[in-house]
Amino acid sequence: MILIVYAHPHPGRSEANRVLLDAVRDLPSVRLHSLYDRYPDFSIDVQAEQALLEPARLVVWQHPLYWYSVPALLKLWFETVLVRGWAYGSGGTALAGKDCLWVTTTGATDEAYSPQGKHAHPFRAFMPPIEQTARFCAMNWLQPFTVHGAHKIDYEALAAHGRRYREVLQKYLSDHG
Ligand SMILES: Cc1cc2nc3c(=O)[nH]c(=O)nc-3n(C[C@H](O)[C@H](O)[C@H](O)COP(=O)(O)O)c2cc1C
Repeated sequence: MILIVYAHPHPGRSEANRVLLDAVRDLPSVRLHSLYDRYPDFSIDVQAEQALLEPARLVVWQHPLYWYSVPALLKLWFETVLVRGWAYGSGGTALAGKDCLWVTTTGATDEAYSPQGKHAHPFRAFMPPIEQTARFCAMNWLQPFTVHGAHKIDYEALAAHGRRYREVLQKYLSDHG
């Protein structure tokens, strides 16, 4: 019911995303799909990806923020999997009505995402391309889940984010069970 499309270029080196995933991977009806593990050569099996998406009610896009956006393989996944006639356009209704949750971690703190901060813009300024990708496919955009300052927070704080993530998915499952 919940498909986590996970895009970490170095899954084995992840700290923040790994803690988040460890907090939810045992939930019933949650399927974790790690794109960089599945497609180290970037050769995406489009039909297999579409078949995975079809039964999902909630699609999660989870990744570390890379250059204010998604890592390259998730961008390629958008380009190749979310195609006209399937995800949008005439007859393209495969994702319509599904929910979409964006889960991302950032190296920078929340304060760095401000007009006075290092990144000059509030974090929400970087959200529209992702949000509109989901909306263009007629998906329902849920409140994104973000963890800022992933380089600075300690394990306890990360674990608390993990518990928060688990609560979000558990609530989704109980509301839609
Ligand atoms: C190539 C690259 C680009 C990055 N771009 C950003 C960025 O634009 N904004 C930001 O806040 N952090 C950026 N980061 C930091 C990552 O988002 C951060 O390391 C990650 O969220 C930590 O999660 P992890 O422990 O699961 O790897 C970047 C890191 C790399 C390696």
